[in-house]
Amino acid sequence: MKRYNTLLLGSGGREAAIAWKLSQSPLMGKFFIAPGNAGTDIFGASLAIKPTDFEAVYAAVCEHDIDLVVAGNEDPLVQGLREALTAKAQTDGRELLIVGPGADGAALEGSKDFAKDFMGRHGIPTARHLTVTKDTVAEGDAFLASLKAPYVLKADGLAAGKGVLIIDDIEQARHSLREMLAGQFGSASAKVVIEEFLSGIECSVFVLTDGNGGYVVLPPAKDYKRVGEGDTGLNTGGMGSVCPPPVADDAFMSKVDERVIRRTLDGLRNEGIDYRGFIFLGLIRCGDEPFVIEYNVRMGDPETESVMPRIASDLLPVLVEAAEGKLRHTALDIDPRTAVAVMAVSGGYPEEYRKGIEISGTLAPEESLVFHAGTARNAQGNIVTAGGRVLAAVSYGDSIADAAEKSYRALEDIHFDGMYYRRDIGRDLIAFAEGLHKA
Ligand code: AMP
Ligand code: GLY
Repeated sequence: MKRYNTLLLGSGGREAAIAWKLSQSPLMGKFFIAPGNAGTDIFGASLAIKPTDFEAVYAAVCEHDIDLVVAGNEDPLVQGLREALTAKAQTDGRELLIVGPGADGAALEGSKDFAKDFMGRHGIPTARHLTVTKDTVAEGDAFLASLKAPYVLKADGLAAGKGVLIIDDIEQARHSLREMLAGQFGSASAKVVIEEFLSGIECSVFVLTDGNGGYVVLPPAKDYKRVGEGDTGLNTGGMGSVCPPPVADDAFMSKVDERVIRRTLDGLRNEGIDYRGFIFLGLIRCGDEPFVIEYNVRMGDPETESVMPRIASDLLPVLVEAAEGKLRHTALDIDPRTAVAVMAVSGGYPEEYRKGIEISGTLAPEESLVFHAGTARNAQGNIVTAGGRVLAAVSYGDSIADAAEKSYRALEDIHFDGMYYRRDIGRDLIAFAEGLHKA
């Protein structure tokens, strides 16, 4: 049986969940995570390498005889990780499998303008839009005037998840449009996508594809972006997730498959884009219809923390097949239970917060999983906070409420100064499901 020496790139809760899953594979050879965090070292060895430092990543590939590289986050992919590693491996006559698209495919996330045009070319349902630059700002004003409030303005390029503004007042929208074009998000907002606002419930669907028409759909999830309960306050990297969300029922998922997944994969192939890796569809369900809000070229965080625990199949051979361009799997075995991830964050996040705060308590509870996100070890070897989103407690349950309750209980036994988490993860979905039940 061939074993795969594997290098996973990234350091967040998403990578911790992927590492947890992959480390259980009987096909796993040596396993490394670069750079990893204080919780991933029980799954694989941490390497102090930045995923965007392609020289260092390739040096690790050679040193550890890596067969498979799995990209956790988008930055290296948008910057050309696949091309860089493939070129070096070819020169050396080394076989190297990579999960993650080339820069051409990664433009689905790296440029919202590209993504919107792509959806237009392939009949994929999405909000009406216009892309403007400094030279076409008057057209932007006219387009804004044709829309109803609120107004959605998006920086074209990567802006660390902060480049989307939703504005109620048209005068304010015109003003913000100019500020964005003047460099509010640096070069990322040299182009701005103006979009019609879609009202509905969001959910995230993940597809793993091999670039040759083969794909598997992972369990859908919903994340909670706002810092405050009841979806209030500032946007964050994600405060929790539910897998599966009742909005993504079978009828909805079959529309997603037909109108979004197949059209996206056919579109990529027709445009000559050899996409081997994850595609994350950020969807909104308006009535019963799916619309694409965004593409990402990786798994979601914190969705992955509730998605991975529900995958019963061995994921490693599926990743290998996708990277080889020969996906034989067409579906995964899924645990029937619901999983709920609740993220504990540092006081003040997403604004100013401290780092280096000691974490104590039960980090390996019996009833739940704890995935580290922003953690590190201090000079004494103790686990401390190293980011705003610190760790996620994930639990299985017979219902959303049951799984969420178990995750809250797990977090009650974990302590750090200023620790905060939302206690309403999944509550909107419970209400949605009750509405469906009554209807
Ligand atoms: P994005 O970075 O494109 O995912 O946008 C961030 C968030 O803004 C999304 O998760 C949605 O909550 C919201 N959003 C983006 N586009 C729209 C839209 N056209 N209509 C309504 N909400 C949107
Ligand atoms: N949870 C949203 C994202 O990963 O972009």
